[in-house]
Amino acid sequence: MDQKDKQEDSPAIIARLQAKLKAQQKTIDVLMNAAEQRLSEGQSSMALLSQNLNLERIVQQKTETLQRQGEQLRNAMQDLQLTQTQLLHAQKMESVGRLAAGIAHEINTPAQFIGSNIDFLEGALGDFRRLVHALQRVLAAVACGSAIIETTREAENLLQEVDWEYLDTEIPAAVRQSREGIGRVNTIVRAMKEFSHPGGKEKALHDLNRIIDTTITVARNEWKYHAEMVTDFADALPQVPCLADEIGQVILNNIINASHAIAEKNKDSGEMGRITISTRLSGDQVEIRIEDTGTGIPAGIRDRIFDPFFTTKPVGQGTGQGLAIAHDVIVKKHGGTITCTSEENQGTIFTLRLPIQGR
Ligand SMILES: Nc1ncnc2c1ncn2[C@@H]1O[C@H](COP(=O)(O)OP(=O)(O)OP(=O)(O)O)[C@@H](O)[C@H]1O
Ligand SMILES: [Mg+2]
Repeated sequence: MDQKDKQEDSPAIIARLQAKLKAQQKTIDVLMNAAEQRLSEGQSSMALLSQNLNLERIVQQKTETLQRQGEQLRNAMQDLQLTQTQLLHAQKMESVGRLAAGIAHEINTPAQFIGSNIDFLEGALGDFRRLVHALQRVLAAVACGSAIIETTREAENLLQEVDWEYLDTEIPAAVRQSREGIGRVNTIVRAMKEFSHPGGKEKALHDLNRIIDTTITVARNEWKYHAEMVTDFADALPQVPCLADEIGQVILNNIINASHAIAEKNKDSGEMGRITISTRLSGDQVEIRIEDTGTGIPAGIRDRIFDPFFTTKPVGQGTGQGLAIAHDVIVKKHGGTITCTSEENQGTIFTLRLPIQGR
């Protein structure tokens, strides 16, 4: 049984068992009513006793059936919970895998220019050594008072040959660039570590701005070819009790959805769109807005986007789980809300709200 079948079966099993339970309860009610009615009609105590015994037997049988069915219901619930956990895990693994190639590329770019800067610095160091040797010769000539002019001219020629002015500006620039490159690699590695950290099963206080920033960094290769990323994070946002890696997954799905919608809208023009992510405190909730300038969502499908496996994307680009999981994470697990407003051909805004107090 694959995960999709399982997901569709479990609610059906639960619904069927609940209907059975209701029917059993009805039978018991009918029997009770019949007994009460006979009692009020004044039957003999012997007949009543035998009827009560009969009734007791039936009730016992029904109770046993109910217990058995209750057990089945509990098993079905556990099965459903397990399926949901597996689904979440599968999506997480899929997104880590999907991001890996992009991250390798992101690290490769600074690594490449750090490499060429080191080659340049190695050449410059060779020139430096020649200059120092020339200087040593001048100093030796001065010390013994011979061939001073000759060695000085030699040193001057060498200064021109190595193009000292060029080296003087380029060496600090190469060092600065390399330092920036290392910083960039560190940021990506740290973000990847944070993003793929398994995280606890219990909620803990987290800085949502940081979770969003980390997700933007690891997903950079997904959006940078289609959109500029604008962030507007509220200062001093209170920490929110949450499951950090699951919130990261939700944000990631929203960023990828936004980027897909922008790429689709601009597929002919190749223009860049914009993704704007902002946070703010709103009463006792923290609000995250993810806004894009993509295709928008046609009014006819807006009420289906949170359905499991609903997708408009070609095979290989989407399985329609992202927003269903987002709904589960934000609403069921965190007691928050997730809403969407959209205008066709203009763009879409998803607003996520998470309570500061948790629940
Ligand atoms: N920002 C958006 N702009 C336009 N359409 C969107 C946007 N976000 C979601 N949608 C629509 O909602 C559908 C469901 O989104 P969802 O994230 O659940 O699944 P998916 O992106 O298709 O697949 P998956 O997330 O599993 O890779 C998408 O296929 C798309 O049609
Ligand atoms: Mg998606």
